[in-house]
Amino acid sequence: MIEFLNVSKYFGRHKALDEVTIRIEDGATIGIVGPNGAGKTTLIRLLCGILNPSEGQILIGGKDLQKNSSEIKKIIGYLPEEPNLYERPTAGELLEYFGLLYGVPKDKINQKIDELLDLVGLSDRKDWAVSSFSKGMRQRLAISRALIHDPKIIVFDEPTMGLDPLTSKKIREFITTLKKEKTIILCTHYMYEAEQLCDKIAIIDKGKIKAYDTVQNLKDAYIKEKTFRIGLKEMKEELLNKISLTKNLRIEKIGKDYIILKTKSYKDLKYILEEEITYFEDLTPSLEEVFIKLVGSKND
Ligand SMILES: Nc1ncnc2c1ncn2[C@@H]1O[C@H](COP(=O)(O)OP(=O)(O)OP(=O)(O)O)[C@@H](O)[C@H]1O
Ligand SMILES: [Mg+2]
Repeated sequence: MIEFLNVSKYFGRHKALDEVTIRIEDGATIGIVGPNGAGKTTLIRLLCGILNPSEGQILIGGKDLQKNSSEIKKIIGYLPEEPNLYERPTAGELLEYFGLLYGVPKDKINQKIDELLDLVGLSDRKDWAVSSFSKGMRQRLAISRALIHDPKIIVFDEPTMGLDPLTSKKIREFITTLKKEKTIILCTHYMYEAEQLCDKIAIIDKGKIKAYDTVQNLKDAYIKEKTFRIGLKEMKEELLNKISLTKNLRIEKIGKDYIILKTKSYKDLKYILEEEITYFEDLTPSLEEVFIKLVGSKND
């Protein structure tokens, strides 16, 4: 378990994190979302032991991070927001350097490097200098660097930022394969990514945790009505009357062969679904709407 207990972080007089308390279960994948400057990277850098809290305590497996930092750093893999890779070595040499630095046994390192390059799809680039790598390749190499010592906890700060859709998809798929055995903390601006990959999401704004829950619970708490478009083979007057008499069910629009309905619960749709339906579309707002509701227009 990772525990932030009333953690604050000041930069000069600026409070970048404000009494953050959050608990992350072993094996969970947690998304950290929030506007620019909210404190996401600061939270992550505290967790990786790169920064120290100004106030409060961070516990990992019940141990104080500051008092056991060298021991704890060994179990954390970190993909920074802007990975800084050495340019001159080849991908293989770079991973070897970091592997040895993190104490990977010398006789295991080559196998580990091959395995990781294969996982991130860079096997054929092992002997190429890092300076020849494109942005997406650098990101994938940086991910393998973060994993070289087989850490139990992996922290990704915007892993797909600025990458093409296909590379982003590959990285998300790769993160999904890690989910089974690792605790993952993923900071992202892409709500879709958070929704797809994370068990729970923390929404952070101006250094404070605004909400921390599963996507479903966040939606249930902040989006009061679900919206559906239902295609009907036949628009029956009788059905429309029945809908308008049903409590909690509101017709928002009647089209030629469809209706848009708003309701608090799926249950209310029961008898409509007994009609001859041509299609069914859930138009209920996404996590993005929850985000906008919580951090809203207060930000410049
Ligand atoms: N080393 C630093 N020195 C001074 N101020 C800092 C430092 N690091 C962060 N800050 C400030 O702390 C606040 C939070 O920054 P942080 O980088 O954690 O935001 P973020 O949520 O990661 O934003 P982004 O989405 O843009 O990456 C910002 O106001 C930032 O200017
Ligand atoms: Mg950041």
